[in-house]
Amino acid sequence: MATQVESSGLDHFFSAVAARLDRWRDLGKTAHAWAAKSAGAEAATLKASCVRQLEQLKPFETLQAFPGLRVLKTLEERVNSNDPQGTLRLLQRVSSALTSRSYRNEHGDWEQDEEGSSGERVMPTAMRETAARPYFEVLFVTPAPVSRWPSMIQQVRKLRRPQDEFVYEPVFVGNFEDALLAVILNVNLESVVIYEGFPFASANDLPLLKSWLASRLAFDPKAGEPGDYGLLLAKAVKQVRPELDVIMLADRKVEEIISDPAAVGLRRVFYEVEEPLEIHLSILSGVAERVETPFFDNLQKYAQKPVGTFHALPIARGKSIFRSNWIRDMGEFYGPTLFLAESSATTGGLDSLLEPTGNIKRAQDMAARAFGADHVFFVTNGTSTSNKMVHQALLEPGDIVIVDRNCHKSHHYGMVLAGAQPYYVEAFPLVEYSMYGAVPLRAVKQALLELKAAGRLDKVKLVTLTNCTFDGHVYDTRRVMEECLAIKPDLVFLWDEAWFGFARFSPFYRPRTAMGARATLKEAFADPAYLKRYLAQEKSLGADLDPKDKRVLETRLIPDPRIAKLRVYQTNSTHKSMSALRQGSMVLVGDEDFARHEQAFKEAVFTHASTSPNLQIIASLDVARRQMELEGYELVMGAIQNALDIRREINHHPLVSKYFRVLTPAEMIPAEYRPSGLKSLTEGSTWVDALRAMREDEFVLDSTRLTLVCGTAGFDGTQFKNLLAAEYEIQLNKTSRNSILLQTNINNTRSDVANLLKVLVEISQGIELRLKSGGDSARANFAARVKALTEDVPDLPNFSRFHDRFRTDPKGSTLEGDMRSAFYMAYDDTRCEHIKLMSPDIDQRLKNGPTMVSAHFVIPYPPGFPIMVPGQVIEADTIEFMRKLDVKEIHGYDASLGLKLIKPSALGESGGTAESGSAKKRSAPAQVTVSAKGATR
Ligand SMILES: Cc1ncc(COP(=O)(O)O)c(C=O)c1O
Repeated sequence: MATQVESSGLDHFFSAVAARLDRWRDLGKTAHAWAAKSAGAEAATLKASCVRQLEQLKPFETLQAFPGLRVLKTLEERVNSNDPQGTLRLLQRVSSALTSRSYRNEHGDWEQDEEGSSGERVMPTAMRETAARPYFEVLFVTPAPVSRWPSMIQQVRKLRRPQDEFVYEPVFVGNFEDALLAVILNVNLESVVIYEGFPFASANDLPLLKSWLASRLAFDPKAGEPGDYGLLLAKAVKQVRPELDVIMLADRKVEEIISDPAAVGLRRVFYEVEEPLEIHLSILSGVAERVETPFFDNLQKYAQKPVGTFHALPIARGKSIFRSNWIRDMGEFYGPTLFLAESSATTGGLDSLLEPTGNIKRAQDMAARAFGADHVFFVTNGTSTSNKMVHQALLEPGDIVIVDRNCHKSHHYGMVLAGAQPYYVEAFPLVEYSMYGAVPLRAVKQALLELKAAGRLDKVKLVTLTNCTFDGHVYDTRRVMEECLAIKPDLVFLWDEAWFGFARFSPFYRPRTAMGARATLKEAFADPAYLKRYLAQEKSLGADLDPKDKRVLETRLIPDPRIAKLRVYQTNSTHKSMSALRQGSMVLVGDEDFARHEQAFKEAVFTHASTSPNLQIIASLDVARRQMELEGYELVMGAIQNALDIRREINHHPLVSKYFRVLTPAEMIPAEYRPSGLKSLTEGSTWVDALRAMREDEFVLDSTRLTLVCGTAGFDGTQFKNLLAAEYEIQLNKTSRNSILLQTNINNTRSDVANLLKVLVEISQGIELRLKSGGDSARANFAARVKALTEDVPDLPNFSRFHDRFRTDPKGSTLEGDMRSAFYMAYDDTRCEHIKLMSPDIDQRLKNGPTMVSAHFVIPYPPGFPIMVPGQVIEADTIEFMRKLDVKEIHGYDASLGLKLIKPSALGESGGTAESGSAKKRSAPAQVTVSAKGATR
């Protein structure tokens, strides 16, 4: 166990899984070279290399059952007995089983050598017999001496029974650090069994893990044994991977453990001498609970039943398809199962999405467990609908919502429908890349304080922010909620995590999700030390914060935990980041007042949900949850690893990096929001630095969202997107003027990464060739194009203000507006007019009035945010932006007619005058915005 490895290997969180595979591959190459030499000095050197490489693999393999120490031992024996061919044969099988992951379903076969000789088997017979069942690994943490582990492993294996649903292999470790390392690195683990009495420190050299642990532990392990680490380990395991089952084996009274608050979340506590079969059954039933998919399981059964349908869904059972002369190809394409699984019935065990009481209810409850919420609602019309449901459920007409102007349009429309008044806050712009970042907390606080000063705080109901943004900006969700609750303790939060649902399954991202932050806040509010901190703040700033007191804005506020409510909603497009069918979405509820609002929530569901929900989408939501609970950790880690590889490969490739680069946190987040100083996710930083940034920085970048600058290669975003699709079959999501957004998810493999790089190399070579063969004029044209794309970028317009006609308090200073009245004015053509974008009339009106007020939402794609909303006064910067815009798709704008405006007469203005009143003089919101170059403006 006491092997030394480089710190960049074993305890490098994201690369360790890949590093292990790479080491196996390297060993394979050495063995290959050795096998090619019959004897001599070179053969001896290669053999020595094999010995050394095997030694280096040991610390990795102590944490895994496959290939594990057992196979390493066999390999060592072969190397020591001078058997290069035998070594190579076994290594090739191991390597291919590892990369294809086939050992999970063929673990009974792989270890036989090519002759099928049973003498070469290194896995026990029991494993071969159980090959067809799903496979996982279980970590046993024990104080028993290492010499006893082989017999303990055998004892665990002997517990297997033919009727077991699954098969697992035990992995033994003997201390806290190795246990945590195994939980981090062994993606096959589903359960952890902890015997009390083990020591803390690992004999491995783990500087990164140790420094991370030192910053997290509430005790100093060097100061001696603080007692038993069992419950501390259980808590740490749950922090890293909450979905794992943890079973404790205690040598003291079980009741003593259960009454300890740290025992929350333990699956079972056993008295150590109890029947081992009980432990075995507990492990299996824990996994079975996660495997169960109540709705999908039932739908499969339903599809097998002979059902006569007299309801309105001819496609159900497929007879209209398969008996047709003309549409049989549809049946052949999808196969009969799809049609057998279609129904419009809510009987026959199918449950109703609108009033779930059976298996849909159970599936939703299981999703709540998996995603850390109190309740989950499945939605089959996308997060566009989920957002509208939440707005409607929470808001009454006239309520104020503090909302990112740059948020998805479903929020804007949701507020129109609910009659709520948006108070738009601005994200910091990244002008250089024609995109926005996220909304600084300061802007949100300022809005709340302004509303408080104006006596309108009681009308503020909701704060809505997008986490993470399209381009990957992740909020400090906990801090935002803490500081806002300090100003208004009953605020409700809607975090639009359309893109971030997967984040629950990464210990890095989880604290920055809505539900992750809610969990830590819940714990903090219950901690007496937190109240003490609050009381100190109260002493200095007072219980009722004074909006005029400048310190309030500058201080990192915390709420009074005795009165602050945790009312948190999260929406996620499960289909965007997990294995759900398109439009599969979830609303996660963590609202301590939900019981009082449940009826309103139901009404919102009734308003927006289809009464004919798609059963396949519901089933896929159920299955997506199962997958994430069982392998989400591994898949998300893989997606992050792939993203980091893409960043590294592109930004360091000698040719590709001449024309393309993936933006770093330093380029995507102004320095003032990155106090940790983290500049890059791949250069000069470790995962411990990245974790510090997660704790300290106002915004961090989700590494899986990669902004690739293509303007420097002479392509605008749309052009490059089309090139990748047309010539290389590479699809992507979003573009800006000079960039495209690539995204890795749980579907990507290392081959996808390699293919992307290959394509970029090819395109870069093409550019080089054109520039070389085209001579000076080609180079000059290229430079001009690059300059136009990267330097001549339009300023991004801020939200100006609502016209006085739509302001509750036109004389006041706050920004909220009655967008709904403006929206409906546009329905009456007699109250509207059009004006052509290029017409000089626009410039005249900007100068002399009357004020131009938008009748519509105007949303260009890209960037995809509304540059005008109904009732908004149109100012010069918005017109300039529209005029420079070179995109074809602009929702709410018909170029042949021009901008649709509300007529001055409808606004109560006379033809030639501009709007008067205090709002006119008030320019853009008094928020601090920061340009891409970091300058405050
Ligand atoms: C931030 C955000 N929220 C919500 C949505 C809507 O999600 P859906 O496509 O699931 O309706 C999107 C879609 O792109 C989005 O980007």
